[in-house]
Amino acid sequence: MRRKLAAGNWKMNGDAAALGMLAELPRPEGCDVVICPPAPLLYRAVEAAPAGVAIGAQDCHAQAAGAFTGDIAAAMVADAGARYVIVGHSERRAGHQETSRDVRAKAVAARDAGLTTILCLGESAEERAAENTLDIIAGQLSASVPDASTAQTLVVAYEPIWAIGTGAVATPAQIDEVHDFIRDRLITRFGPDGAAMRLLYGGSVKPSNAAEIFASDNVDGALVGGASLSAQDFAPIIEALARS
Ligand code: PGA
Repeated sequence: MRRKLAAGNWKMNGDAAALGMLAELPRPEGCDVVICPPAPLLYRAVEAAPAGVAIGAQDCHAQAAGAFTGDIAAAMVADAGARYVIVGHSERRAGHQETSRDVRAKAVAARDAGLTTILCLGESAEERAAENTLDIIAGQLSASVPDASTAQTLVVAYEPIWAIGTGAVATPAQIDEVHDFIRDRLITRFGPDGAAMRLLYGGSVKPSNAAEIFASDNVDGALVGGASLSAQDFAPIIEALARS
């Protein structure tokens, strides 16, 4: 039985005062809750988070230390008390020219630092229109996911780029197709660990559509952007996940 996971990605939003929402989040049994604030808030977030709410970073560097101005190492994320790190978000793949190879190196660094990686992948609108979605997902999976990943070290988040921050959520049939495909690939590659890895859906998840998304067999939770910024929006998503 896979534990459910509700992860919030604050992106470049939030401040110290916003961390007050952590204490207002529900923490249902069988459900992990994670908030990934911007890096300057990590320490404070760890201090502010009640038991049952974990903290994650939004990115890490592949190297352990060195002359990489502005970057943060996976070990620094762990040292701050965070337990998760997002890698390969499409905003970083596009805005920072990160390749799947880069993403894989970051995921290896995260694993070595003892963090759980939330590894994002997903197709663009053009790729979907050209019916290339599953090829793109297959390519990203094989190039981004490190060998020897386990259900403890890796969570995969399917985030169709066209659904991120747009209000255009994928249909249950589209989500089923991609999540079932990812599950098959992970089982082929990792055996029982592939069956135990959590798969999240991300892209315009809201209180109003969460229950429908969580009804899919291979959806174990969500990676939520905009709706994770307030407890008012994120709490009903966590509750819908716990009920699913
Ligand atoms: P969104 O973002 O929920 O605001 O669409 C999701 C994400 O980018 O992780």
